[in-house]
Amino acid sequence: MKFKTSLITSVLSLGLFGASASATATDLEVTHWWTSGGEAAAVKVFADAFNAGGDNWVDGAIAGSGGTARPIIISRIIGGEPMGATQLNHGRQAEELVEAGLMLDLTELAEKEGWTDIVRPSKLLESCTLDGKIYCVPVNIHSWQWMWTSLKAFETAGIEAPTNWGEFVAAAPKLREAGIIPLAVGGQAWQTSGMFGVMVIGIGGMDLWRSVYVEKNMDVINGEDMKKIWQAYDDARNLTDPKNSIQNWNDATNQVISGQAGAQIMGDWAQGEFSVAGQTAGVEYDCLPGLGNRAVLDTAGDAFYFPKNDDPEVTEAQLRMASMMLSKEVQVGFNLKKGSLPVRADVDLEAANACMKKGLEILANPENILPSGDQILNRDTQGQLEDLSSEFFADKSVTIEDAQARFSEILELAE
Ligand code: GAL
Repeated sequence: MKFKTSLITSVLSLGLFGASASATATDLEVTHWWTSGGEAAAVKVFADAFNAGGDNWVDGAIAGSGGTARPIIISRIIGGEPMGATQLNHGRQAEELVEAGLMLDLTELAEKEGWTDIVRPSKLLESCTLDGKIYCVPVNIHSWQWMWTSLKAFETAGIEAPTNWGEFVAAAPKLREAGIIPLAVGGQAWQTSGMFGVMVIGIGGMDLWRSVYVEKNMDVINGEDMKKIWQAYDDARNLTDPKNSIQNWNDATNQVISGQAGAQIMGDWAQGEFSVAGQTAGVEYDCLPGLGNRAVLDTAGDAFYFPKNDDPEVTEAQLRMASMMLSKEVQVGFNLKKGSLPVRADVDLEAANACMKKGLEILANPENILPSGDQILNRDTQGQLEDLSSEFFADKSVTIEDAQARFSEILELAE
């Protein structure tokens, strides 16, 4: 019996022949701010996996930092021009969008796939949850708590590579003599602000960090221990290139990769850049978690949200994307490229490099894990802290005392 081709095509498109009839590919525009070499390599893992499932990843990369991309993403969603999916950080960045009912509820998928048993630490999924419903899929664990050193730079300066912040500061004059910038940093405020948080923990310890950021203990915030952190932060601003014109974090990382700079305090997304440059942890570069003093990690990183829309096919594709991002094989492939750690414990990262292995060891002990700033402060407070850090780095007339007083005012009013 000969069916007309059109009849067969229409029957197939209705999926009446079951799984063998593939659904029509659904385009999903995905916004994110991953534009460095390493980040782009990681995005490709997501895109290839989504496309292999029969859909179409429409890349919506936004150049610049999260500080540039987030307002664009949020205004599009509020303005009724939502993307299919978007990256945001773990934590509170989407809380108003979720409260406004603008984001897709993923609870049914999460329950079907057992996300609460899969995702660890569980606080990552808690950051996606409002009133018992889940609105995002965590995809990685990044930690700010790292310092990256160029072994070549210290060799050129004829000195041992430092194993902690104190040794690094002591080595700085020799780096300067060899024409090497001791500390690389990008000019965007989130970078100098992130560095400060790393110093609170790496030099002051976790108890100090909790007193300051979680308990907001004003005696501690205004006390001598925090004054020591501001003094170390003053050291840091005096270790950068006085003529620094770098803005992007990965351009600062490239100064370490090339040996122009001795070190950078930056999250472990920097690993992606060393990897793309063909450098090996422990050979050309090294990594000091917690500035080499306290091996801790924070649970920064990324999750994907799916703005609601009225097309059931799009909603189905959004759910396919969320499921793909948490799948074992994608979690391994994506995180190895991104330099981050997977959000599930049941995967084998045998290809992890020496620095990622340090991170996995730290992550194995819950005592070593902190929530990230994104998870404990709202964007408004973080913005004020970023402005303070940026001003402190740019204007040497801002004294330690001025900065500590303003820091205190900001945290006193933080919600
Ligand atoms: C962070 C994000 C990371 C990393 C970094 C620099 O907010 O969580 O994935 O890419 O920005 O772009």
